[in-house]
Amino acid sequence: MTDFEYLSTTKHEQIAIVTIDRQKKLNALNDLLLKELEQVFAVLSEDDQLQGVILTGQGDKAFVAGADIKELVDLDMQTGRRGSEQGQRVFSLIEEFPKPVLAAINGYALGGGCELALACHLRIASTNAKFGFPEVSLGIIPGFGGTVRLSRLIGLGRAVEMVLTGDMISADRAEHFGLVSAVVELEDLLTESKNFLGRITRHSPLAVQKAIQSLYFAYDSRTVEALNMENDLFGQLSGSGDMKEGISAFLEKRKPMFKGD
Ligand code: CAA
Repeated sequence: MTDFEYLSTTKHEQIAIVTIDRQKKLNALNDLLLKELEQVFAVLSEDDQLQGVILTGQGDKAFVAGADIKELVDLDMQTGRRGSEQGQRVFSLIEEFPKPVLAAINGYALGGGCELALACHLRIASTNAKFGFPEVSLGIIPGFGGTVRLSRLIGLGRAVEMVLTGDMISADRAEHFGLVSAVVELEDLLTESKNFLGRITRHSPLAVQKAIQSLYFAYDSRTVEALNMENDLFGQLSGSGDMKEGISAFLEKRKPMFKGD
């Protein structure tokens, strides 16, 4: 794996654990870190054996405390727009990643950090995690997809409240909002995240991939187009090795051994 300044990557039973490591700045996303995130997902997409990704932050204080505020100082209309486009591009790459990506949120997830978590398919938080969108206090708005993805996940009313007040919410409140699937002790976060992903990776990798594709396509489409896409994807899976294995295993009362073909 390529050497990164602000990222480390380990692999655990076909799950890649990507750790954002810029602790002194609470893992804030500077330009290089965004580029490295883009690069690491490009590299991971070439790993056919990979079954999922856990994205987390180094340390016990922050997942990601937002975009690097120091780099925002000199923005003008053009560079500001380009910066927003860059962040959105990287986060969309994560959202479109064909294997499940889970954010293990180990502390502050603010602004761009919360937007990063939103771009992942799944989120689990530690009890000390805090979520918020402080952008309006800086004279800006969330620019890495936050105003788009937040309301889709937790509803417009709550999203408006979070973005306009800029107030932070606790992990428990985030769970109540449906922003995260579970809240666990910090020392258990990685183990619980692996267990959570394990509930997905025991299934057909091909079916999981198509399910992600169908769910996200449907969210952005008219019903008729979404249903048509579901037909296509269901058709693509029919007769696949994974489908034959899944159905044989059920009929033979044994555990399936999926190959992802
Ligand atoms: N950008 C740059 N540096 C940051 C940062 C950020 N988003 N968040 C924290 N840091 C730095 C601090 O400047 C500090 O650096 P120094 O030691 O060199 O002074 C270091 O990280 C530690 O932070 P604090 O001393 O502030 O730690 P704290 O415990 O007192 O406070 C905090 C923690 C409440 C999270 C506070 O750091 C904070 O409010 N951070 C900014 C959060 C924020 O506004 N995020 C949104 C950024 S804008 C954005 O993300 C736009 C977008 O949508 C694209």
